[in-house]
Amino acid sequence: MHPLQKNMLIVIEGIDGAGKSTLATNLNRALQGNGLATTLTKEPGGSQLGKWFRQLMVEYQFPLATKAEFLLFAADRAQHMAETVNPALAEEKIVISDRMSDSSVVYQGYGRGISIDLINQINTWIMDGKTADITFYLKISLEKAQERLKLRGQKLSVFEKEEEFVKKIMHGFDEIFANRANVITLDGSLSVEELVNQATEKTMLWLTQKKNLLP
Ligand code: TYD
Repeated sequence: MHPLQKNMLIVIEGIDGAGKSTLATNLNRALQGNGLATTLTKEPGGSQLGKWFRQLMVEYQFPLATKAEFLLFAADRAQHMAETVNPALAEEKIVISDRMSDSSVVYQGYGRGISIDLINQINTWIMDGKTADITFYLKISLEKAQERLKLRGQKLSVFEKEEEFVKKIMHGFDEIFANRANVITLDGSLSVEELVNQATEKTMLWLTQKKNLLP
């Protein structure tokens, strides 16, 4: 086993089009290249149940009541923890998750108006109090994100169709991450190479020092 190997949960958050999956894939590759054992995963969709749920939410855009939508994301998270995250952490792996609990706080809380206290309580219960060791917040302007989604030929997800809604989401991320330790804000307009270098460097620093990292 690599001398620095220890279990660690890394979460990447941000709006659609910020470049989360590209960063997740490349950070995963870089850490593996450094000899570390990792698991790359995502929410929604990081379990068998989650894959089905993704189809329902993203592909079919099945109309859901707000409360039902939140509880499905919560169920997806519970299954993701049990099936993917906890077993990987138990094997001392570094788990990189493309979105997690903060997406519910921001999308269902700030976006849909569900009580943030309630969401936090349920997230804590689902994750048995576990929190991310590092959160990379990929921050990008609305214009740039939309431009990228267009280039990808990707339809805006059901959650990000309305500009007003996306603005609430951006504000939500800014607010919850403003004073939280171990949140690293990255400039989503930088090159993939630069972003991966920064994220890898912070991760290696955390592994060597296991100290709180400041932005
Ligand atoms: P995502 O996987 O980021 O989209 P894609 O990979 O298809 O680009 O997530 C799909 C949508 O789900 C996204 O718009 C954010 C939303 N979402 C929530 O509303 N709440 C949640 O708890 C999570 C995890 C995601």
